[in-house]
Amino acid sequence: MKLTTAEFIEKYAVKRTGTNSLKWDALDQRYGDPDLIAMWVADMEFQVPEAVTTALTERVNHGVYGYSYTPDSYYEAYFNWMKQRHNIKLEKDWLRFDNGVVNSIYGLVNTFTKPQDAVMILTPVYYPFHNAVLDNHRQLITSELINKAGHYEIDFADVEAKIVANKVKLLIQCSPHNPVGRVWTEAELKQLLEICHRHHVLVVSDEIHQDIIIGQQPFVSALTVAHGRYRNGLIVVTAPSKSFNLAAMLNSHVIIPSEELRERYDKIHQQINQTEVSALGQVAAEAAYRDGGDWLDQVLEVVRSNYKYLRDELAAKVPAIKVADLEGTYLAWLDLRAVVPIDLTKEFIQDDCHLAVDFGQWFSKNDAGFVRLNLATDPKFVHAAVANIITSLTKINETRAISATE
Ligand SMILES: Cc1ncc(COP(=O)(O)O)c(C=O)c1O
Repeated sequence: MKLTTAEFIEKYAVKRTGTNSLKWDALDQRYGDPDLIAMWVADMEFQVPEAVTTALTERVNHGVYGYSYTPDSYYEAYFNWMKQRHNIKLEKDWLRFDNGVVNSIYGLVNTFTKPQDAVMILTPVYYPFHNAVLDNHRQLITSELINKAGHYEIDFADVEAKIVANKVKLLIQCSPHNPVGRVWTEAELKQLLEICHRHHVLVVSDEIHQDIIIGQQPFVSALTVAHGRYRNGLIVVTAPSKSFNLAAMLNSHVIIPSEELRERYDKIHQQINQTEVSALGQVAAEAAYRDGGDWLDQVLEVVRSNYKYLRDELAAKVPAIKVADLEGTYLAWLDLRAVVPIDLTKEFIQDDCHLAVDFGQWFSKNDAGFVRLNLATDPKFVHAAVANIITSLTKINETRAISATE
């Protein structure tokens, strides 16, 4: 039965303090203030679909957690989801499991490049992409996305020039893109994949936000671009964790269509990674893929309405704050540079607005003054965040006006 947005929030939104939640219970440790409104790390304040709770409860009631394997029913549920939602046809052979997408990206950088090899990312981008390159002593090559009044585009000429100049071996792509909210079109992906193909650059496409589609632009997987033409130079990493709020269940997918790349992956993994699958993670994911579609659609409605509220209120009251277009992900990207001096952004956000956010410079050295706000939450937090921003700016402007007349 479809719930209204208000009914959905009433039923699923929960208080998370006291549950070892990184987002809420680590505020003091991470931000030095336990009382901030937590709008940072990308998980949700919503309980998972009922079918997931039921499946987990049954498994827990059995009470044995011995070694587990992935049943055919898992592949069936996941492959149906990918086919029905995204028109992606997967094959069982292509799939490897892991316990997190970030973990996979670190592993793929290690497997497919050598120390000092150049690895490219399109910035601003999810900061573990930077870390996966730097922690493994590879050379980090960045190409800045072009910000056209909150709509970001790839600078293809810059990407190609830097690939050639630095002999880039691997590109880590974020699709949909965290934090700028783009859902890349097939034409954009084709152009990027064609450049990589031309210069023998392996592409790792992180499609973890594939189900969080907020605007009109449908998600296109790199796997299906040009009817799959680029598959052999491509590894896709994805997971049910963003879509169904399952991050700590530690179950994710590595999709490798090329037999040659699979052999290289398997050889290295045999040597260094003998991780078993997460039994509870797979029980949860299978139930989510089979029965979680309506729940996800309702979450998307909440995110759309939170985004509209944030964008419209700020446009009406503080139009100098630029909110990027949100085509995908549940993460809003705000440019505060016109209203707060860049070096005072942290004080403004934490001390005046009482918010815990992700700061722009975590995503690109050029993006201090931007902040990322998580909208997969109870609207009451979004309303409070917007009110705090508007009130704090009004106060600052009044103080400025008084000191200017003194
Ligand atoms: C683009 C992207 N990749 C990966 C992750 C994290 O994935 P995991 O928890 O599976 O490591 C996130 C979480 O925010 C993300 O935004």
